[in-house]
Amino acid sequence: MKLWGGRFKNSESKIMESFNSSLSFDKTLYKEDISGSIAHCSMLSKCKILKEEEADLIIKGLKGILSDIESDKLPITGDYEDIHSFIESNLIKRIGDVGKKLHTARSRNDQVAVDMKLYAKSKCDEVIENLHNLTISLKNLGDKYNDAVMPGYTHLQRAQVITFKYHLLCYVSMFERDIKRIRNAKEILDESPLGCCALAGTTYDIDREFTAKKLGFKKAVDNFLDGVSDRDYLLELMSDFSIIMMHLSRLCEEIILWSSKEFSFIEIGDEFSTGSSIMPQKKNPDAAELIRGKTGRVYGDLISLLTTMKALPLAYNKDMQEDKEAFFDCVDTTLSCIKVMAEMLPTVKVKKENMKSAVKKGFLNATELADYLVLKGVPFRDAHGIVGRIVLYCEDNDKSIEELSLEELKMFGDYFDLSVYDYIDYDKTLLRGIKKEMI
Ligand code: ARG
Repeated sequence: MKLWGGRFKNSESKIMESFNSSLSFDKTLYKEDISGSIAHCSMLSKCKILKEEEADLIIKGLKGILSDIESDKLPITGDYEDIHSFIESNLIKRIGDVGKKLHTARSRNDQVAVDMKLYAKSKCDEVIENLHNLTISLKNLGDKYNDAVMPGYTHLQRAQVITFKYHLLCYVSMFERDIKRIRNAKEILDESPLGCCALAGTTYDIDREFTAKKLGFKKAVDNFLDGVSDRDYLLELMSDFSIIMMHLSRLCEEIILWSSKEFSFIEIGDEFSTGSSIMPQKKNPDAAELIRGKTGRVYGDLISLLTTMKALPLAYNKDMQEDKEAFFDCVDTTLSCIKVMAEMLPTVKVKKENMKSAVKKGFLNATELADYLVLKGVPFRDAHGIVGRIVLYCEDNDKSIEELSLEELKMFGDYFDLSVYDYIDYDKTLLRGIKKEMI
């Protein structure tokens, strides 16, 4: 069952065997491992290192293992060291000694590296597709409520009027950047490590470009040691996933705030809310809170692998087996959060009236009033001071700016005429200048 043992006198201790085994989690890579082996075997035959009949037998055996795993006829369990041993042992069990030739001119070091890269590439596509769906959910929600205006905030203090749709489009921009980042990471990782062997290549004249092309990589890596010891691509993707989660957590925070009674801007559908075991009135935004919480877990996965890789000497070290659980958890968690958010958004009901009344409180047209004064020839810095004093006056008298009479406004200077009311009207400000882009 073991891939090694010739040079050992004593057998491995039971506790070491289970401590060392990665099968329980690297079984995720069975498909990639078999594709890598098939490509390797075809190359060995093309380079006349294996006879054609031998290669055919091996490839047929590998394909049989793949279909038996997929139909649950061959469960991935047992005392194997890893998925590579599991597949090779089962191959030998099925086709006999010829199966022992598969590992010619290959090491598990380049084998696991190519498996991980193939897996990472397919996950890039899945994340990109789901991010794209999320941007569609955001755009749809914005379109559904395209006449809703709301306060835009800085420092979580009401600042200026914006449209709800435009606020959501900000998240669309973030997730579109995330898509670009992942595309870029995928492009950088697109070099095959297969054929680097343990760290120093092989005395056989193998064709690394052939396997690279067959597996869909742009080219083979330049350096053997780098091929087996590089885990940058996992770190880069986990950084990208961390940024996605950071973006999601900001959206979640806003959704949680907005669905509080204090804001009362939105209501999340029952399908994505939960209740309390004691307080009958409660409707909690658990989905958004969980996504916000899982952000910490994804950051943790990144930091864990960064710390594992720190100061590792070249080339392969067993420490690197720790890359798998961290990466699998990181990508699975990120994907599930993206999917939940994309499905929750269509259930959101927007309370436009509440948003609009929040706009009317908090002097959100103060900047526009200053712009009005500038139009009348007042330098902006002076206009800022005048409007500041007007706001103070409004606060003392419990009025909004648009509620002041012309006489009251004129107490602060002779610049005002009736056109001011149009100028600071919330809906009309959105029609002026580049603010039109928000509509
Ligand atoms: N399970 C190992 C890993 O994930 C596979 C590579 C083993 N290589 C070795 N030289 N022991 O890293």
